[in-house]
Amino acid sequence: MLGVRVVLSRKTDGSVAALEDACAHRKPQLSMGRIVGDQIECGYHGLTFDCSGVCTLAPRLEKPPRGARVRAYPVESRYGLLWVWMGNPALADASTIFTVEHWGDPAWGLN
Ligand code: FES
Repeated sequence: MLGVRVVLSRKTDGSVAALEDACAHRKPQLSMGRIVGDQIECGYHGLTFDCSGVCTLAPRLEKPPRGARVRAYPVESRYGLLWVWMGNPALADASTIFTVEHWGDPAWGLN
């Protein structure tokens, strides 16, 4: 999106997380790793990132490296679409998503 690779994952509560698709270690795609609960594990050395992008596990280290994180993007699921905020997360405002009149109204069709 906008020239940035983003990996999307569905969390155990059904909501969606959006992270930069690049491991904080050597930048391979996290989407080539695997989902572990609500987290994504890098396929190379196993650094694991939570939905906020913070590294929570480094298999060969006692503690995850301080500051190891990937960018997390606010995401909203609405109208059968995922709306990913690519700007400053502090400015994300789901109320700015336009309204689709009659969405979900059975009297209206969806093609
Ligand atoms: S490249 Fe991802 S953990 Fe090393």
